Amino acid sequence: MNAIAHDPMADLAAMLAEGSGAAPSAAFDARIDVAGEDASLAAFVRHQALMRGYQARYVLLPEAAPAGGVLGPLARHYDAGRLARLAELRPRLETELIGPLAMAREGEGEGDIGAYVEAMLGEIRRGPANPLIAFLAAADHRDDHYRNFLVQNSPDLLAEASASALGVIGEYGEPQSALFRILIDEFGYGAHGKKHAVLYRATMRSFGLDDAYNGYWPWFDTAALELHNVIHWLFQNPGNVFRQVGFLLHAETAYQRSTLAHHRYLREFHADADARYFGEHAHIDLHHTRMVIDEAVTPLVARFGAEAGAEIIAGAEMTRRAFARAGDHLLAVSQAFAAAASARFGVEGAPRHALGRPVTPRSPLTSEPVQVGVLGVLRDGRDFAAFPPAAIGRVLP
Ligand SMILES: [Fe+2]
Ligand SMILES: [Fe+2]
Repeated sequence: MNAIAHDPMADLAAMLAEGSGAAPSAAFDARIDVAGEDASLAAFVRHQALMRGYQARYVLLPEAAPAGGVLGPLARHYDAGRLARLAELRPRLETELIGPLAMAREGEGEGDIGAYVEAMLGEIRRGPANPLIAFLAAADHRDDHYRNFLVQNSPDLLAEASASALGVIGEYGEPQSALFRILIDEFGYGAHGKKHAVLYRATMRSFGLDDAYNGYWPWFDTAALELHNVIHWLFQNPGNVFRQVGFLLHAETAYQRSTLAHHRYLREFHADADARYFGEHAHIDLHHTRMVIDEAVTPLVARFGAEAGAEIIAGAEMTRRAFARAGDHLLAVSQAFAAAASARFGVEGAPRHALGRPVTPRSPLTSEPVQVGVLGVLRDGRDFAAFPPAAIGRVLP
């Protein structure tokens, strides 16, 4: 018997690849990478696996019928054994990947929730200019940077509010109905063309991107997956109900300002781009913020007291840190790419036509070209060593 350590992630990768079949539609493509000898890829691959597990909880269908019919791939994608395997791995992955991020900081949540909300509103409204927008306004190759921004945010936004919808089912009193009204807005009040995910697709298309859900999965980097998985961890675990409210408190408040900055930026620098996604949020999230505060936070704290308030604050702070990490990382990757000597902006070909081998900045790198997201290609892959640790590149096949 050989004593080689068994890698459950490699087994999972094989099972997911088999279920996806050859040339799967984006909706039924549940493949993940294999870290193999490259230990620096372990967190990336685990985040991919956790994403697959979370996304297996809801309905996905391809845009067009697959050549051999839809029922076969549908049955394979939602096969009971496959779902059971993903569910079985989930607690361990959550403990390893999300656990450290979920720990409340010392002193966090001790303050009064009313004071916390007031301070948060003031801070977000008076806060400094959006650093990504400031970078873009002065950058060359703005289109490529913006495409990468859209792609790295797409794991969540192309199914916007599907995670938070999981927090709306159940039975928990009046706040549930307020959160349901927000959810209805996120889903365009039943008008498909107004659904926020559909507006996001229109923005992606207007930048020449493929708008299929997960169409760019090989290009999602570790930071993008982490943000997606933090949001799903919050909402796919009902015990997080107060933290879910904290998520909405922070997200709706921060979004009204960041989307306004993006809307203005697009109008000024990409006048032909579809900016409705951002315009809509800059408006409606003012209302959503008020609804979360008045109809969820306040009554829940009145009913359950300070311990509920502390959990709401912990959820809001966890969300603030997750958004900040993802945002700082995205900007740092764009800056690293712009500074790389061998960078060539722009990518070619369909996003999943040839996956290539994933690498991190700590992988053994050679002069083989490395593509970074949809920014472009480093003609000398060794330049990737200077990128932020959560960046992912792929050695072009
Ligand atoms: Fe939205
Ligand atoms: Fe909203």
